[in-house]
Amino acid sequence: MTAASFLALPGNEPMASAFAARFSSNSASVEVRQFPDGESHVRLETAVKGANVVAVCTLDRPDRKILPLIFAADAARELGAASVGLVAPYLAYMRQDARFETGEAVSSHSFARLISGSFDWLVTVDPHLHRYKSLSQLYTIPAFALHAAPLLSDWIARNIANPILVGPDRESRQWVSEAASRIGAPFTVLDKERKSDRQVLVELTDRTGFDGRTPVILDDIVSSGETVLQAAHALSAVSAIKPVCVAVHAICADGAQEALAYAGVRVVTTNSIAHASNAIDVSELLGAQIAAILRAHP
Ligand code: R5P
Repeated sequence: MTAASFLALPGNEPMASAFAARFSSNSASVEVRQFPDGESHVRLETAVKGANVVAVCTLDRPDRKILPLIFAADAARELGAASVGLVAPYLAYMRQDARFETGEAVSSHSFARLISGSFDWLVTVDPHLHRYKSLSQLYTIPAFALHAAPLLSDWIARNIANPILVGPDRESRQWVSEAASRIGAPFTVLDKERKSDRQVLVELTDRTGFDGRTPVILDDIVSSGETVLQAAHALSAVSAIKPVCVAVHAICADGAQEALAYAGVRVVTTNSIAHASNAIDVSELLGAQIAAILRAHP
């Protein structure tokens, strides 16, 4: 099989090194610096001729990352890579999936076009699929969405003695119920209405089943933190036990972590985005999918 070469965009070195170790392969950094005029200078720090290149770049705060990533992918191809794939543990621009107000850009379309134009395949973890049912409705390259829910469930089973799982909105019912049934725990879902980027209303309609149990809010993303904060507030009416939030992606915008800590909510996340709350490793989940792809691209 052609050798794999893992290219770490800045900040992704630990994940790229974990992949390199798994595949007994090499990982190298992509050097990114700014010219005085603000444009990006990108340089691959390794030869890639003939290699199956795997760029590793999680895509939170995507606007400052996307152009260097595209430049790196195009450089790898021009320098003779056999294939160029992308592992983006967090995939950005999945939430603007419709024109909610007149004249708005549906950025999920444009972003998918950009990535599809420069990569042969994409692997990510729990992209925010809401109006789109699969990545293939957006991406024209093979795109694999992996699910971290079993890893989240297993963490809960190991660390929370008597949990009740709580989904933050009706859309979360299916995956929260699956996560709950995996560990034999009860679950409920909240009613949520988003009023603006940083304002949500959350209501707890089913108040049963909380006695003596630790509420565990299960979510895909903690972004502004408002969903979890309001969920914690609603749960305080039925449980004296402070909730734990277990989530996949720790975007944790400015102030979110502090507000959640102040409210007494412990937050636990996967390392799809490097953050102080990371406690669940998704590198093996991603590694298994990379192995399957590389077997198909010998
Ligand atoms: C919404 O559909 C998601 O599942 C999350 O609940 C949401 O994106 C979290 O955003 P925020 O932290 O800004 O409330």
